Amino acid sequence: MKLRGLLTLAMTAQAVVTAAALIASYAVSGSAAPYRFGLPQLIALLASGVVAVLLARLCTRTIDAGQAADQARASTAPAQMTQAVIKTALDAFIQTDQTGSVLEWSFQAEALTGWTRQEAVGTDVVDLVVAEPLRAGFRQRMMRLVPELSDTPAGARFEVTLIHRNGDRILTEASSTALRLGERTIVNTFVRDITQKRAAEEQLIQAQKMEAVGQLTGGIAHEFNNMLTVITGTIEILADAVKDNPPLATITKLISEAADRGAALTSSLLSFARKQALQPAEIDVNELIEELTKLLLATFDKKIGIVTRFDGNVWLAYADRGQLSSALLNLAINARDAMLDGGKLTLTTRNVVFGVREALAVGAGYAGDYVEIEIADSGTGIPPPLLARIFDPFFSTKEIGKGTGLGLSMVFGFVKQSGGGIKVASEEGRGTTFTIYLPKAETSTLRPTGYDDRKIVGGQEIILCVEDDRDVRQYVTVQLESLGYKVVPAANATEALDIAAEGTAFDLLFTDIVMAGGMNGRELAEQIVAARPSLRVLFTSGYAYDSLHAQGRATMGAPLLRKPYRKAELARMLRRCLDTAVDSVGDPIPTPYSVQADVERFLRKQASEDDGATRLRK
Ligand SMILES: Nc1ncnc2c1ncn2[C@@H]1O[C@H](COP(=O)(O)OP(=O)(O)OP(=O)(O)O)[C@@H](O)[C@H]1O
Ligand SMILES: [Mg+2]
Repeated sequence: MKLRGLLTLAMTAQAVVTAAALIASYAVSGSAAPYRFGLPQLIALLASGVVAVLLARLCTRTIDAGQAADQARASTAPAQMTQAVIKTALDAFIQTDQTGSVLEWSFQAEALTGWTRQEAVGTDVVDLVVAEPLRAGFRQRMMRLVPELSDTPAGARFEVTLIHRNGDRILTEASSTALRLGERTIVNTFVRDITQKRAAEEQLIQAQKMEAVGQLTGGIAHEFNNMLTVITGTIEILADAVKDNPPLATITKLISEAADRGAALTSSLLSFARKQALQPAEIDVNELIEELTKLLLATFDKKIGIVTRFDGNVWLAYADRGQLSSALLNLAINARDAMLDGGKLTLTTRNVVFGVREALAVGAGYAGDYVEIEIADSGTGIPPPLLARIFDPFFSTKEIGKGTGLGLSMVFGFVKQSGGGIKVASEEGRGTTFTIYLPKAETSTLRPTGYDDRKIVGGQEIILCVEDDRDVRQYVTVQLESLGYKVVPAANATEALDIAAEGTAFDLLFTDIVMAGGMNGRELAEQIVAARPSLRVLFTSGYAYDSLHAQGRATMGAPLLRKPYRKAELARMLRRCLDTAVDSVGDPIPTPYSVQADVERFLRKQASEDDGATRLRK
């Protein structure tokens, strides 16, 4: 545009000069010969030619100057652009020559490594950011890489662990390209910190693995549980029948013990699979650990010192007390096994408040208040490659027969199912610290009345028994009848609803929760209780819920009998339900009914003693 304007101006100026020169030449030569071409005209044309030459030179110079400015602008733009790209890049930029000497060190490189540009430029990049033992190997790789890179315009991408100025290890992904400039080769490298990304990926893979193994384990344990329910239940009937035949009595005892071991194993597997039927309650963890410590002091070698550090104001935790005791015992036994030459076991409690990020880091369900229990030992520690596997079921480094490898799996499953989290830190030769987080108890729950465990007490009430597994149903019916109860059996929820609709009398609904054929035990209970508000309900299940919240929802707060169960447990739970007084709308009456029974029993005893005394006096 500028060039065209200049030329147009020059040509117009030239035309005006030529016209003016001609008009002037005719004025000078006079009117006598107006159209003749004489000397004055020649002079005018020459003058105009001179002006044209001057104008052309002026234009050329102006054009040259413009082009020079354009060229200067064009040559500085890419350099500035490159600087801007390096400055604004999210990744660190490091430029070296072929020997590894730093030429360029971006702001992000400073942030990533802790070394400033001034400190870095001129130094050897390997010495600066690669750990001492890895340097020789890294240099060799670089030597091989440089000629390789120079021939490959696309460059190479690789992972490398760098050392921060403060000694921290940083896992990075680097992409390098080489430029050959005459005899020199320049290596440009962009470096990205992937430490956190990798940790998150590993956490996800671990969680997915645990989920998959958990599902498989839970499925198998569930099936075994149903079979064991039949065995553990019927064996008592058999034992009773053959008690006068010692060889057969011994065999039944063996079967019973094997079934007990099977039940313990499936219980651990269900714990791991987060399918254990939990009975959560408020727990004073200090008190529970105090009790545990007494047991440990009595059983552990004296070379192991046991220290407790309690937070006196620790919140109540909400979890299954029995499961928590066995989880802590498992952790303590592991610690003992890691301190065969003696050492120190420290149990600590404290309150913690988690934000979302902290909760996720320990695998806890949600942000909020947690009770922390830490079990630290000064034992052998766990080698890093094994750390990712310790929670796997059946992973054990102990001799065959010494460990099943289910201890930590159970702890893991229990803690997760309770809505809590777990973390482990270990250093070889220094010791291991397991930290578990349990949700803080929010509300106080009405505790069930105590029951005397020692004797089996039956009753005469009528029980509607709903169970979809034919064998289990048959077994439970026999058990209930042997306890004196009258049983109305039903194979599924629909059958049970029909029985209820007919107006059949029954005092308690005893139902499985997970049942084939549409409606589950909870829905069934809801429907029946809606029509009979003061009905007692006892649920049973071998396959429970991913969380305590889920379990609470499933049982509507009603008691739950875990499968497999023994006759004594069944009897105890039934009495507990039947003896808990409820008002006309089904709400529990706070005064335990058993107190009333005790009072009646006392009065009867008094009366009979009085009677005896009277008789004696007679
Ligand atoms: N405190 C600890 N110190 C060192 N290693 C440990 C510690 N706790 C667990 N481990 C390692 O983790 C493995 C798995 O532990 P886990 O409790 O699941 O199984 P186990 O103790 O081998 O067997 P089980 O508990 O079933 O009897 C152990 O074999 C051991 O190698
Ligand atoms: Mg163990």
